[in-house]
Amino acid sequence: MVLQLSDTLTTDIPLDRDSEEPIYQQLIRHFQYQISSGRLQPGTRLPPSRDLARELGIGRISVVSAYNELQSKGLISAHPGRGTFVSGGEQTRKVTPKNHHQSQPAPHQNMREILRLAQKPGVIAFNCGAPPDEFLPVEAFRSALDTVLHRDGAAAITYEDPEGYMPLRTAVRDFITSQGIDTRAENILITGGAQQALDVVLQAMLAPGDAVITTSPTYLGFLDIAHVRRITPVGIPMNNEGICLDTLEDLLIDYHPKLLYINPTFHNPTGSTMSIHRRRQLLRLAQQYDLMILEDAVYQELHFDEPAPPPLKALDEAGIVLHASSFSKILLPGTRIGYIVTEGYARDRILRVKQAADICSPALIQRAVHLYMKRGNLPGHLDRIRHVLRDRRDAAVEAARKYLSDEWAWKVPKGGLYMWLELPASGPTAAELYMNAIDYGVAYAMGTLFHTNGEGARHIRINFGSYPPEKIREGFRRLSAAWEDFQINNIQRRPIL
Ligand SMILES: Cc1ncc(COP(=O)(O)O)c(C=O)c1O
Repeated sequence: MVLQLSDTLTTDIPLDRDSEEPIYQQLIRHFQYQISSGRLQPGTRLPPSRDLARELGIGRISVVSAYNELQSKGLISAHPGRGTFVSGGEQTRKVTPKNHHQSQPAPHQNMREILRLAQKPGVIAFNCGAPPDEFLPVEAFRSALDTVLHRDGAAAITYEDPEGYMPLRTAVRDFITSQGIDTRAENILITGGAQQALDVVLQAMLAPGDAVITTSPTYLGFLDIAHVRRITPVGIPMNNEGICLDTLEDLLIDYHPKLLYINPTFHNPTGSTMSIHRRRQLLRLAQQYDLMILEDAVYQELHFDEPAPPPLKALDEAGIVLHASSFSKILLPGTRIGYIVTEGYARDRILRVKQAADICSPALIQRAVHLYMKRGNLPGHLDRIRHVLRDRRDAAVEAARKYLSDEWAWKVPKGGLYMWLELPASGPTAAELYMNAIDYGVAYAMGTLFHTNGEGARHIRINFGSYPPEKIREGFRRLSAAWEDFQINNIQRRPIL
């Protein structure tokens, strides 16, 4: 006998359209509770996504995303031609609304707790995303700041044009010309780091309730922006060459999303780089389906072995790529200078949002970064930082070979800051291992944080950039010891997330 989801249960789904929590997550929470409390019995058929979306007055993509995630958690299963059903199994354990909420703290609450643990004295914190502190050019930047204040006086500390300081925009244009991007300085807008560039594009191009396509896994800070702006991130898996185009095309046919966000070079978190062939295919597909691409190129220059393939923007003949990047990963993360390359109507909308957000980026800092570049300091600095990061990458690879058994899987990163490791299937998940790793004095970023659908439980991201080689080796030794201790002593599984 097939149980049907009763009409009251469907129409009773409480959705708060003003909440910061995206609609699809509210749906997930609702169904999880209905299932775990036993109100939705195993075998109950859920309404087709189209019907539920219509009934609730929401986009179908929100329902599809929620169903996908519930399926990946094993709570429901889809049977082509028959429908989507509540599964049985351990997840049907009864919980009260109170402890249900306790077991699912808000992501930021979890993250704060995890970051606090990683800051314990003596812990090798592989979890952060910053470039190495000791290579920030403090003296050269101090001298640039002094000179700018002397030279420009009040102009250096008053409002700047919302588009940015023109000489800096021209210097950025010259910099990206060397990457193959052909544009005018007028098309470059200065932003508060790449993070603000991504945020203003999302606000200018999408409306709350829209979907944005991205890879799964993807940059965690981008997921944060999407959640805060109430935009639904929909993840597409990746393979060796980059984003899976078949899955992307299916989605483009079914849902006609407007925007894809992608970090194609030395990807955060996997460290992988999209091949030039895949870049060209992606651009063709995007053009065919009228899809805009938001390219995030913050790691483009951090290549160790050979230069990375050109940015998507350099291959974009149709004008469909918005190119965002910054000086954070190569120069000065705290100065918050980033930029976006954009043309036509998108440029005007993005500029309005940027102006509404903070009027302009700080004049003094823009001028100092410009002077630093004009003095010709950047190429030498980039060479040094690449060299240092290459040594650290080598140390991480050597340590992974030495300390991790063959059951671990990972690839040699060719640039950037990150190594993406897959834990052995036989052992704990990243969340289960976490407390033991902290006890052993090492922290990492858990794979699930970067996924749009709860996957990645056995993946971890290591930032090899922030420690010298001997600390990296020690960090891997501790990681391996924590894992083995967990296995041998059969430590109780206590996932931190
Ligand atoms: C892929 C990616 N994009 C953007 C950012 C943010 O860069 P910024 O510091 O310039 O805002 C980061 C920082 O970790 C990142 O990894």
